[in-house]
Amino acid sequence: MPELNDATRGRLLYGGDYNPEQWPEEIWHEDLRLMKSAGVTSVTLGVFSWSTLEPKPGEREFGWLDTLMDLMHDNGIGVVLATPTSSPPPWMGRLHPDTLPVTEEGRTEWWGGRQHFSHSSATYRRYAAAITEDLAARYGGHPALTMWHINNEYCTFDYGDESAAAFRRWLREKYGTLDALNEAWGTAFWSQGYDTWDGILPPRRPHYMRNPTQVLDFRRFTSDMLLECYVAERDIVRRHTPHLPVTTNFMPFWTGQDAWKWAEQEDVVSVDIYPDPADGWGAQYNAMIGDMTRSQARGPWMLMEQAAGPVNWRGVNHPKPRGLNRLWSLQSVAHGADAICYFQWRQSRQGAEKFHSGMVSHAGEQGRTFQETKQLGAELTLLSDAVAGSAVPAEVAVVHDWESWWADQQDGRISSEVDYPAVVRAWHRALWEAGHTTDFARPEQELSRYKLVVVPHLYLLTDAAVDNLVTYVRGGGTLVSGFHTGAADEDDRIRAGGMDARLRDLFGIATLQEWWPLDAGVTVQCDGFVGTLWSEELEAGSAETVAHYRSGELDGLPAVLRNGCAWYLSTLPEPGALRDLLARVADRAGARPVLTGLPAGVEAVRRGDLLFLFQHGRDKVTVSVPGRHHDLLSGSTVDGVVELGRYGVAVLRKAA
Ligand code: GLA
Repeated sequence: MPELNDATRGRLLYGGDYNPEQWPEEIWHEDLRLMKSAGVTSVTLGVFSWSTLEPKPGEREFGWLDTLMDLMHDNGIGVVLATPTSSPPPWMGRLHPDTLPVTEEGRTEWWGGRQHFSHSSATYRRYAAAITEDLAARYGGHPALTMWHINNEYCTFDYGDESAAAFRRWLREKYGTLDALNEAWGTAFWSQGYDTWDGILPPRRPHYMRNPTQVLDFRRFTSDMLLECYVAERDIVRRHTPHLPVTTNFMPFWTGQDAWKWAEQEDVVSVDIYPDPADGWGAQYNAMIGDMTRSQARGPWMLMEQAAGPVNWRGVNHPKPRGLNRLWSLQSVAHGADAICYFQWRQSRQGAEKFHSGMVSHAGEQGRTFQETKQLGAELTLLSDAVAGSAVPAEVAVVHDWESWWADQQDGRISSEVDYPAVVRAWHRALWEAGHTTDFARPEQELSRYKLVVVPHLYLLTDAAVDNLVTYVRGGGTLVSGFHTGAADEDDRIRAGGMDARLRDLFGIATLQEWWPLDAGVTVQCDGFVGTLWSEELEAGSAETVAHYRSGELDGLPAVLRNGCAWYLSTLPEPGALRDLLARVADRAGARPVLTGLPAGVEAVRRGDLLFLFQHGRDKVTVSVPGRHHDLLSGSTVDGVVELGRYGVAVLRKAA
């Protein structure tokens, strides 16, 4: 199978989405001059070009793209060619309203924006296949082509009639009989028993709370249907260019796609990361998405999009202070990215994203944004040989699962304060602050290579996942689980006793009486720390109680349990406490931080034989690094001590 390396050819790839159809031709030549001066090696063409390529049904306008492909090749810039299928032209919705998605309230999502297509629409799929076929036939042999980019950020839900029919087909395949579906969905509750497949709908807005398993299956179905759209286009381009890798760009840690499943269908895993420059923990977020994407890719990955400056889809959109874009880009490299790209090359002057930054901002060539773009391009060139293709070692894994997330979001949940991604982020942050590089893992995957595995909060666990966690600990691994884990089976049926019996046994829990969620801002005192968000009324069995609750109704009951190498945290400790606890457990498990004694805000990551250091703050700091090293960025040799300034980066290799 082709891989990222086939497109990068052993180098770090640098570039971005390029939308030349928004500009007159003379700007194209100016763009090429600037791209070359910035060390750009790759552009992604055609992401939103459908109405330009097919202005009327069945017509083709390839001339402009021919010119651009040639121009790119003549200038030594590779092309990641996109299928334009995420934004159908207006004629499609007008002539074929069946291609338009429908919301849960029954409202049609019209053209005039983007991503207004129904994954289940046979008409949409036919047009998408036809334009993909023609693009692949025309450009498959073009020397500029390095990779395929299918669609863009697949994310559209559809509750319409064609989707309803597809949902029924999907359910028939899964359950075989209506009896099995009724049993899995628990339809005896509220008189929901189905007597015919035709009676089943997507979970359209009902009078009151929805059937949670129906919703869960609809999430699984939606992810699968979007994946079907991807696979259909991927297979077309693969037929023409079996030697070239294919990708589609994920939104980071997004709820709609089971990215574990999707990644298996991609040659290259790519993602779009937009940390908020105003988020004091933006660096941790960037690290987390990098870790997650690397784990999905099981190796180097592609940062398909980031912003050189502000985005324009937050309430208040902050630019990036000087140096921050370089810092976060190099941080992504340290976390395994072999490709650093942006949305987009040149900031638009029209359209919905004209206030969204580009590598060339409205300020132009002399603007700070482009000057920083140039500097980064030069530095990536410098690092390229030493970094590209190398692995990022991790001794710790965070277990994360989309299905559990979906089940967790149901209408009748225990606490709407529990925000699954925020809980995962809190645990990743604790490990990140403790200096560990972490992988992410699926609940069913073999875990024995990790010294420490943490499960921040997996409400739903399949039998196979439960067995996997038990096997991991029995085999000598150390497991730390967060609250409300293992409560439901894969049909979202609550397990007897409120928690799977094998897990209770693993954690040494005798009984689980009640879940006691905490209101926003309310905390519970525990021995030595403060718990947030959640608490549980538990009785310990074989476990030792490491910390008790010391306030409120649960005063005196166990909060943190330890049963050999299995730990259970029935609350979410505040950040410093979670960091310290995980650091202690990691140490006991033999997992070592990348470097010890780092100043606050400094991150160390190993990739291959390199040690990356990042100062995420603005002050000058001194970092002790035993031994003599060359800093590949500054070209200097450092002996035992590295100085880093505002947003400073060092990339160190041991001196011979
Ligand atoms: C996403 C999309 C891009 C663009 C950016 C803006 O990542 O893929 O087309 O809209 O967001 O941040």
